[in-house]
Amino acid sequence: MKMNLITNGAKGTQDVLPRDSFQRSFVEKLLFDIAQTYGFGQIRTPVFEHTELFNKSVGETTDVVQKEMYTFKDKGDRSITLRPEGTTPVVRAMLENGLHNNALPIKLSYLMSCYRYEKPQAGRYREFNQFGAEIFGSEDPAADAELISMANDMFNRLGIKGLTLEINSIGCPKCREKYYSKLKEYLESKKADLCPNCVDRLSRNPMRVLDCKSPICSEITKDAPVILDFLCEECSDHFEKVKSYLNQMQISFKINPKIVRGLDYYTKTVFEFISTEIGAQGALGGGGRYDGLVKLIGGVDMPAIGFGLGFERIMLILAKQQVSLPEPEKCTIYIAGLGDEAKEMALKLACIARQYSINAQCDIVGRGLKAQMKFADKIEAAFSIVIGEDELKTQIAKLKNMKTGETREISLDAEKFGDEMMGIDLENRFGKSDK
Ligand code: HAM
Repeated sequence: MKMNLITNGAKGTQDVLPRDSFQRSFVEKLLFDIAQTYGFGQIRTPVFEHTELFNKSVGETTDVVQKEMYTFKDKGDRSITLRPEGTTPVVRAMLENGLHNNALPIKLSYLMSCYRYEKPQAGRYREFNQFGAEIFGSEDPAADAELISMANDMFNRLGIKGLTLEINSIGCPKCREKYYSKLKEYLESKKADLCPNCVDRLSRNPMRVLDCKSPICSEITKDAPVILDFLCEECSDHFEKVKSYLNQMQISFKINPKIVRGLDYYTKTVFEFISTEIGAQGALGGGGRYDGLVKLIGGVDMPAIGFGLGFERIMLILAKQQVSLPEPEKCTIYIAGLGDEAKEMALKLACIARQYSINAQCDIVGRGLKAQMKFADKIEAAFSIVIGEDELKTQIAKLKNMKTGETREISLDAEKFGDEMMGIDLENRFGKSDK
């Protein structure tokens, strides 16, 4: 049928249909369950925030703030932004609700939609979802190791194979002083070829040039000095300890001194989980330490570390690696009715079945008996009952196993029918018992 939609869904957004929704819920629950074993509670924050929350913290020279935020004025003339990432809102919510007064560390996990005006491609959307986890109140490298190990566990438990964990340290403001002057020196010599954005970044925040997506800038930065060579003693010790803990936990990793991350708030450890199987957008997740962000947002000095996993990219790789996920439950029993009185009875019995968590369907479209049975076949109902005049009179119907064709009698008396429904789900899954 030719359709005349008023408009299509917006570019870079996705509709998640029932089967995918079911599988996403399964993955979501697994991730939250794992986080719970590490002591993480769940937090939910609003889709939009005041724009100023992101400008400084994500960073005025980042691509996210400069080019990608969905920012608009609301009717009260306030500047509002759809959250482009999860960490900053979680920090705000943690502080605003006084969670920082609780026993430390505070561990928060979340699944949230995020919005970035990027060029859509496989694995890159304008609306996407992040599963995130943040630990507040520990500067100990053990927190870094535990958090990385949790992400690693998540990928393993999902059955995802072949990811590389890449780690780096981008130091603290102290190490950066020396590093920036060397980096600037290098970039100044190539200034003529840098994109206009990077020329601006060069004076304001030279490390952002390393994260530029333009091919020419990427080529230029290939030989740029790396911050790992400029770490102060404290940052260097911290990084050594993180590596040593990861080794002890038998988590393999690769040091990639080029990881700088696309957001400004990071300090010390940064990391990414990379796949080569889902195209150009291979980062399944990333994160790092952000010891200065809580103070920047709320004035409370509190070290922190976290990660965000790209939920759509996880689903992409699960499909690519053909990891089997549970399928939505099909109809267990279809109750067909012939005539008005039978229809009433079918509606009533379906309700009783549902009280036993049985997927029970009956006619709500006004179909004849033949069409009802055709529909029962289409939705692959495991069992069916037909209620006609006789069945109404005797209060007994035939319960038919739609796969084997076997039938047996079933009482339509509400209480007895309910008793039957208690066993029918097991019968559906495991076949008939011998009783
Ligand atoms: P991020 O690296 O910008 O970090 O995003 C985290 C993950 O979200 C990425 O690794 C990727 O899988 C996914 N992602 C990012 N952009 C898109 C997009 N346009 N479409 C689909 N997936 C995308 C953060 O956002 C930090 N808040 C992570 C963090 C938490 N750091 C500390 N705590």
